[in-house]
Amino acid sequence: MAQTIVLANQKGGVGKTTTTVNLAASLAAMERRVLVIDCDPQANASSGLGVNVGEVRNSVYQALFDPREANRGIVGTDMEYLKILPSTPDLVGAEIELSEEKDREFILRAIVEQVGKDYDYILIDCPPSLGLITINALCAATWLLVPLQCEYYAMEGIAQLMKTYSLVKERLNPRLEILGILLTMFDKRNKLSFMVEREVRDHFGELVFTTAIPRNVRLSEAPSHGLPAILYDIRSLGTQSYIALAQEIIEHRRLQPQAQVK
Ligand SMILES: Nc1ncnc2c1ncn2[C@@H]1O[C@H](COP(=O)(O)OP(=O)(O)O)[C@@H](O)[C@H]1O
Ligand SMILES: [Mg+2]
Repeated sequence: MAQTIVLANQKGGVGKTTTTVNLAASLAAMERRVLVIDCDPQANASSGLGVNVGEVRNSVYQALFDPREANRGIVGTDMEYLKILPSTPDLVGAEIELSEEKDREFILRAIVEQVGKDYDYILIDCPPSLGLITINALCAATWLLVPLQCEYYAMEGIAQLMKTYSLVKERLNPRLEILGILLTMFDKRNKLSFMVEREVRDHFGELVFTTAIPRNVRLSEAPSHGLPAILYDIRSLGTQSYIALAQEIIEHRRLQPQAQVK
């Protein structure tokens, strides 16, 4: 069964999608079978991996109404080991349309259970909110990865997310653990980046990944070519940082098989 990682932060523009796409691509380059599930109606992860969103017939939206047929929506990418269940703008409606459903928090989990045996990792990209879709993603995963932009209000946003994490873990998904907090858009010319890093590392200690993702223009250019950065500019610092993150996750002591049997 796949290790399922949800990338969540209710703030927009902190690097959720960039991390989903590039961590997924790095794991796939290491010949891990990876599935990205795009749960943001903006569908940036889908277009960033080369999906023509306007032509998608079976997206995560359809899958939410018929999880047993989720496989139908999964499509390939330019990388052999990387597949995606794309999103479409109509996913916006799902928040309301699913709100009366029985077990409405666990529909995405049913999808993950349906397709999980075919993958080593499933990465779920979330919208910038803590609504029903993000709750579904938190209930479908066993690991939470929190991208945190190195900026002034970073810590305030994370308090709300940690509260939601605790509630979900207590009431809905006791298996959910924090995989790590990832510092993104680190700018070494800006003193603030170092201050935020210090504060986050002091507060969260070992939960913060050793790897920090630098601000790097190649990471922001690659999506307009429908490519993960590894296929756009493998030598760029951005690409190399995501490869280092993938390595850190593969070697993560808590993701080792023996750590699962407690
Ligand atoms: N490390 C980075 N360096 C430069 N630009 C980045 C970096 N990470 C993200 N971006 C850019 O910042 C914007 C927001 O990132 P994104 O991953 O879409 O955030 P989110 O999914 O949290 O809303 C995008 O335009 C993206 O290309
Ligand atoms: Mg996004």
